[in-house]
Amino acid sequence: MATVAAKLGVLMACALLLLAVGCQASPFWPLEVGFYHDKCPQAEAVVKGVMEKAISQNPGNGAAMIRMLFHDCFVEGCDASVLLDPTPFSPTPEKLSPPNDPSLRGFELIDAIKDAVEAACPGVVSCADIVAFAARDASCILSRGKVNFKMPSGRRDGTFSNASEPLKFLVPPASNLSDLVDSFVVKGLNTEDLVILSGAHTIGRSHCSSFVPDRLNAPSDINGSLAAFLRRQCPADATSGGNDPTVMQDVVTPNKLDRQYYKNVLSHTVLFTSDAALMTSEETARMVVDNANIPGWWEDRFEKAMVKMAGIEVKTGYQGQIRKNCRAINHY
Ligand code: HEM
Ligand SMILES: *[C@@H]1O[C@H](CO)[C@@H](O)[C@H](O)[C@H]1NC(C)=O
Ligand SMILES: *[C@@H]1O[C@H](CO)[C@@H](O)[C@H](O)[C@H]1NC(C)=O
Ligand SMILES: *[C@@H]1O[C@H](CO)[C@@H](O)[C@H](O)[C@H]1NC(C)=O
Repeated sequence: MATVAAKLGVLMACALLLLAVGCQASPFWPLEVGFYHDKCPQAEAVVKGVMEKAISQNPGNGAAMIRMLFHDCFVEGCDASVLLDPTPFSPTPEKLSPPNDPSLRGFELIDAIKDAVEAACPGVVSCADIVAFAARDASCILSRGKVNFKMPSGRRDGTFSNASEPLKFLVPPASNLSDLVDSFVVKGLNTEDLVILSGAHTIGRSHCSSFVPDRLNAPSDINGSLAAFLRRQCPADATSGGNDPTVMQDVVTPNKLDRQYYKNVLSHTVLFTSDAALMTSEETARMVVDNANIPGWWEDRFEKAMVKMAGIEVKTGYQGQIRKNCRAINHY
């Protein structure tokens, strides 16, 4: 009798333990490569198909997805909180915050991917994973296959989004190196991750207002011929929301994800103070030189840094939800 009770006790303890472990979020429930293999085997191919078409129409769509991942992951973790639209209960979500509004783009592309994925497997694939897959595919396509990596998945979508948060975690382009490094360290990334991920500024565009005040209207080390070119493109009083055209970030290979960014940093042919700041310490300057000069060096490290960034503060297991519409939380 006693032994039966003891056995029962052990069994119950085990069940409780299992329950506890089962309910734990990451790191006990980590992201995994091929998370949708059984649940929605077409998921990643569907995302890739939409991305290939979108980038062939406009390479800016690829840049948009890579920046989208950064702005999602640095605020509330990679949980698609950046995609949420305003509602009466949450009138100022992240997307209305200055780091995102009006410069962050690609929300309609995410909708199109989500529609395609929902048509294949309704209610299975999170918006957070869609952002991560789209950024991975953009990297592969825009690098002509040189940045080619597997993206772990199993993220769940968040339900909270507040415009005050991007201002805390996404530092402005006028930042110095110590502010940049600090903003990465807070998210578990290091100085090398900063240098490597900044290489994404080898594609896409910038609004004039992001660099005119501190790079053109104030003394800076910006390359003279680039400055002259930019002065022709940008009104001196460019302000976000006002007369604010866009320019390419990398004037040499604007639509190619390559190591040209680091050559541009060396020739002072970069737009932002935050780009030029990579030359303000010996440690980071050495990294810039290696990335600029050694073929394949940056691509290798960018693959790993993207996976690392895409793992910031993720919600997994029973946390969060799988949104039906990436712009709104589900209501039950
Ligand atoms: C280190 C701090 C960073 C700062 C201060 C910064 C700042 C900026 C700014 C101001 C723009 C131009 C926005 C506009 O005016 O339209 C931009 C564009 C962009 N950023 Fe960053 N960025 C940083 C890091 C990153 C990272 C980590 C990534 C991704 C790995 C990234 C990817 C991009 C891309 C792809 C664009 C072009 C977007 C487009 O064409 O729509 N940036 N960034
Ligand atoms: C968003 O942040 C602001 C400023 O910190 C705060 O006043 C507001 O209550 C927050 N909104 C929500 C829905 O948490
Ligand atoms: C970097 O900029 C911040 C302001 O954002 C300033 O407080 C700090 O002293 C600067 N650090 C260096 C090393 O210049
Ligand atoms: C300025 O940029 C041009 C074009 O990239 C380059 O040829 C030149 O060497 C740069 N000047 C300096 C001082 O780095």
